[in-house]
Amino acid sequence: MKAIVLSGGKGTRLRPLTHTGAKQLVPVANKPILWYGLESLVAAGITDIGIIISPETGDEVKTKTGNGDRFGAQITYILQDRPAGLAHAVKIAQPFLSDAPFVMYLGDNLVEGSLAPLIDQFKRNQLDSLILLCAVPNPTAFGVAEVNSQGRVVRLVEKPQVPPSDLALVGVYLFAPTIHEAIAQIQPSARGELEITDAIQKLIDLEKKVEAFHLKGWWLDTGKKDDLLEANRLILDTQLKAELCGEVDARSQVIGRVKIGTGTKIINSTIRGAVTIGNNCHIENCFIGPYSSIADDVTLIDTDLEHSMILQGAHIVGIHQRIVDSVIGQRAQLRVAPQRPKALRFMIGDDCQIDLV
Ligand code: G1P
Repeated sequence: MKAIVLSGGKGTRLRPLTHTGAKQLVPVANKPILWYGLESLVAAGITDIGIIISPETGDEVKTKTGNGDRFGAQITYILQDRPAGLAHAVKIAQPFLSDAPFVMYLGDNLVEGSLAPLIDQFKRNQLDSLILLCAVPNPTAFGVAEVNSQGRVVRLVEKPQVPPSDLALVGVYLFAPTIHEAIAQIQPSARGELEITDAIQKLIDLEKKVEAFHLKGWWLDTGKKDDLLEANRLILDTQLKAELCGEVDARSQVIGRVKIGTGTKIINSTIRGAVTIGNNCHIENCFIGPYSSIADDVTLIDTDLEHSMILQGAHIVGIHQRIVDSVIGQRAQLRVAPQRPKALRFMIGDDCQIDLV
């Protein structure tokens, strides 16, 4: 079995974080979202992996992720020259996939648990496609499945205004090579894309074997800030292992599950896990509360925060009101003067959101 992982697109919903980069490389618990999918595929024994990239962010994805050695996989990069839909991505990956069955994994999705039971069901029942479904409160934002009383998928609709159920299509799909014939028979949707949802519907119409697997664990489509924070919390909660590599001085307290990277200095601060802190950070006179991820090369001085993500190279100085539910982008600088500030002075990029609550 092979896999394709989709890592293209422009990531408009995560702007400004993704103005300069791929949304799949935004870190969750200090690791790019994309890498969780790659690790999950390798853990299920799939090591021949194609990553679909876009002209805008492809080089960054390639440079960061490499040839697959770090995952024990072999990665082939496949350029999709325009965002023409998920089924279009499968079409251009056909030379790589050849006649192999495959997993298609959307690189901005995080799915809890192992892929092994899905692969088992797919093989055991000799399916043309196995889709993953998860009940969601906002089905209009997703592909939605209508399932009959026997649990069979009878209809799929992409982002319906009136959803037939609350069962969203999760961004992990298993396909036999028959999907290529189905894709050859569909037309672009109203938004001009070749939709994978339409291709699976075509399989159903052709009376091919399509089954659904109902996801029991959590699933996140990390499209927006709060999804990202929730993904960060869940990963820290379920996967973080305590590890202290940096220097923690005698006036500091490290409580609970905390990971601190090499070259990081913690001075006169309290860190209350679950927290992960990257390499070469300087943290002085701070409180870092639960569910926070601090990336590499971050400086935090006289600052309190919790349930937040601070990306690489950011500087935050003198913020004593607690920073909560926040995502601070790479190299961002936030400083408050030690005396009570008399003015607020900003240089804020496009699409930013600042709430002084
Ligand atoms: C895509 C699919 C949709 C699926 C979703 C899962 O939507 O088209 O059917 O439910 O991924 O993340 P997109 O995120 O591209 O809008």
